[in-house]
Amino acid sequence: MLPLQDRRVVLGVTGGIAAYKAVEIASQFVKLGADVDVVMTAAAQQFVLPLTFQSLTKRPVVVDMFHLLAEMHIGHVSLGERAEVVLIAPATANTIAKLASGLADDMLGSTVLATRAPVVLAPAMNDLMYENQVTQENLGRLRARGFTIVEPEYGRLAEGKMGKGRLAEPRVIVDIVRGVLGRTRDWAGKRVVVTAGGTQEPIDPVRYLTNRSSGRMGYAIAEAARDRGAAVTLISGLSSLPRPGGVEFVLARSAAEMLEQVMPACDGADLLVMAAAVADFRAAEVSTQKLKKFEEEGLVLRLVRNPDILKLAAERYGPLGLPVLVGFAAESENLVANARLKLAGKKVDLVVANDITAPGSGFGTETNKVVLVHQGGEEELPLLPKYDVAMRVLDVARQILSEREQGRARR
Ligand code: CTP
Repeated sequence: MLPLQDRRVVLGVTGGIAAYKAVEIASQFVKLGADVDVVMTAAAQQFVLPLTFQSLTKRPVVVDMFHLLAEMHIGHVSLGERAEVVLIAPATANTIAKLASGLADDMLGSTVLATRAPVVLAPAMNDLMYENQVTQENLGRLRARGFTIVEPEYGRLAEGKMGKGRLAEPRVIVDIVRGVLGRTRDWAGKRVVVTAGGTQEPIDPVRYLTNRSSGRMGYAIAEAARDRGAAVTLISGLSSLPRPGGVEFVLARSAAEMLEQVMPACDGADLLVMAAAVADFRAAEVSTQKLKKFEEEGLVLRLVRNPDILKLAAERYGPLGLPVLVGFAAESENLVANARLKLAGKKVDLVVANDITAPGSGFGTETNKVVLVHQGGEEELPLLPKYDVAMRVLDVARQILSEREQGRARR
């Protein structure tokens, strides 16, 4: 199933140069499986043709309050009623001012006024207009009413100068909307900490030890948890993957840095998923100067053990019962037996045993073949996209969390 299968999104497009980026946003929603109704203001139609959106979404585009297409069966408010989320991207200063005052003189204004769905605004405008006190006050009022504002970025503006006012990246806007849609799902109100990627253990100022982890599995878990409504902290080693929107992102290069970030983040969290490939060893001494090559001899590098983050988290948080603790095991043989040893040895709730020898599975791939091993049993999953594996991991973790919450309630 696609991440936004059949979710009903209303995309409002207003009249700014960034309106062309709304085409990419609509396209991303369609690819994610959503039903997208586009509403354009008159000014927006000066920048992009309604036909562009209609071709992408395969649905009529709403452009006028008084010429609605008969087959849509909608009055001027029903679009807002059926929406699960309303996104306005780009949102001009003018539209923001109108929304702040509750004006409903066009289809977009009436849709927003007549919806109970959450509203997300992605402003885009000239930097001085954005900074202007009245725009900031309007945004403050809308925020106070529960609107989500996707901050514009600093960058090159339409006028050619640099400033803050550029529409946020379409991917990030879509990610944030995915999190907002997650509010009705089973992880809403929960806090999830995920680690991802390989750590880098420095040797000298230019060299480090690392591994083949791409970060894909951990990022997929962070995205899936966000899509199911969780507030997610993603603690990541260096990764070439784009940073997911709608999650708190923390960079942790080495195992030591990761440990420093994971421990406090777990305080009050409901779930920790250690998907990072933490290096087991680091250089005993890190040279402050670049190591020079040696003419004839080789270089002997002495390594010492890194702390086991998952084990330390289990020692500190295990007795509290929360967060639920999930670890990964990369195995090339005796998958389940080794995973069971890890489950008991590290005292965690669930081990995702990764068969790194299976085709299409393990490091750097888009898919994974895993067995979920926990106290209650084990579940062998077929080869699946990493996002789908993430969903199954979250299913089991949610079950464990519910049992734990019920157990606490009884005490
Ligand atoms: N882990 C950790 N801190 C470390 C090493 C690993 O928290 N210093 C976590 C990983 O994020 C993962 C799990 O522990 O969730 C992996 O356990 P580990 O025993 O390191 O597994 P493998 O690397 O598969 O181990 P082995 O070399 O024993 O096969």
